[in-house]
Amino acid sequence: MGNRNSTDKVKRNPSINKTNNRSHIKKEFEPTLPSTLPTSPTSPTSSNEEKETLKYYLPNDNNDIDRQHAHHFIKRYLFQSYFSAPIVIGEGVKVLDVGCGAGTWLLDLANEYKDSIFYGLDIAPVFPAEIKPENLTFIKEDIFNGLPFPDNTFDFVHMETMAYILTPEKWHYAISELIRVTKPEGYMELSEAYYNKNEGFGPIYIKLAEAIYKSSLQRGVDLKFTDQLESVLRSRQTIMNVDIDEKVVIIGPNGGKVGTIFMDLYIQFCSTDSAVEGLCPYLNMSKDEYKEFIFKDYRNEICQSKNTKLYMVRYWAQKVNNN
Ligand SMILES: C[S@@+](CC[C@H](N)C(=O)[O-])C[C@H]1O[C@@H](n2cnc3c(N)ncnc32)[C@H](O)[C@@H]1O
Repeated sequence: MGNRNSTDKVKRNPSINKTNNRSHIKKEFEPTLPSTLPTSPTSPTSSNEEKETLKYYLPNDNNDIDRQHAHHFIKRYLFQSYFSAPIVIGEGVKVLDVGCGAGTWLLDLANEYKDSIFYGLDIAPVFPAEIKPENLTFIKEDIFNGLPFPDNTFDFVHMETMAYILTPEKWHYAISELIRVTKPEGYMELSEAYYNKNEGFGPIYIKLAEAIYKSSLQRGVDLKFTDQLESVLRSRQTIMNVDIDEKVVIIGPNGGKVGTIFMDLYIQFCSTDSAVEGLCPYLNMSKDEYKEFIFKDYRNEICQSKNTKLYMVRYWAQKVNNN
């Protein structure tokens, strides 16, 4: 098992401080909480076919792009880094983000590391088509067609917040593809949340979390699968040095500014049209009852709770070199 920090104060895994000394990013990066967040870089489109494929709670519209930007910046602040793998982003280093969404993670990195080469892939063109750094290329592709790159192409391959999309079978396939396109001795990283640790959850949050879990399961998506990612990675013969970095947030005002932002993002996530459609049947509520449940009952419960915890986790591994 990798080392885990399960403290309320957001701390780094001690082993990470050691390994990350190799990273230029860790030395140069001094994150601050953003006072303003970027606005949407593009007007996304979404065909009926894509909408059919993307049956989860995150619509590809401008509101969700803003939410993805905010989510990226608050996670970067929480972890005090862009990623946790001990990779050095230097000249000519090639990085891929799979399911890149609005491309926020890549836009942030590509602006910082102008001599490195970045690729983003997503089935839906929610990423910016034109206004982007020159060292960043976006590709519209379905990962389940196979990643459109030869074996051993990238020094670092990243995938974030795919738990609502991938069935266990698809997780295994996606991980195989990520490993395939990673260079020997390069790194891959998965960044997710835990969904089975309901620590400090009040009755409203438990009810909501159960509805989300059940409705996802109906699509074959087991949100709790993210808890197994470490053992899935460890079971692979083609990767080594599996490690994890875990952060805990107290959601709501009792978790400070970070906790308040996470609460607001979660409410935003739960109040999209697709979330309302998807969750009302599982809660046996009308849309109006559901909105009151989210904006009033859930919010009040979180604001009063001192101990509602959200666990964010990054798993990474290094590809073996058989030569
Ligand atoms: C929850 S969003 C995460 C976006 C981004 N990684 C982030 O953390 O903000 C999931 C993304 O996966 C993309 N996606 C879903 N299925 C996909 C597939 N089969 N191939 C490629 N991308 C896919 C969606 O279009 C969406 O942009």
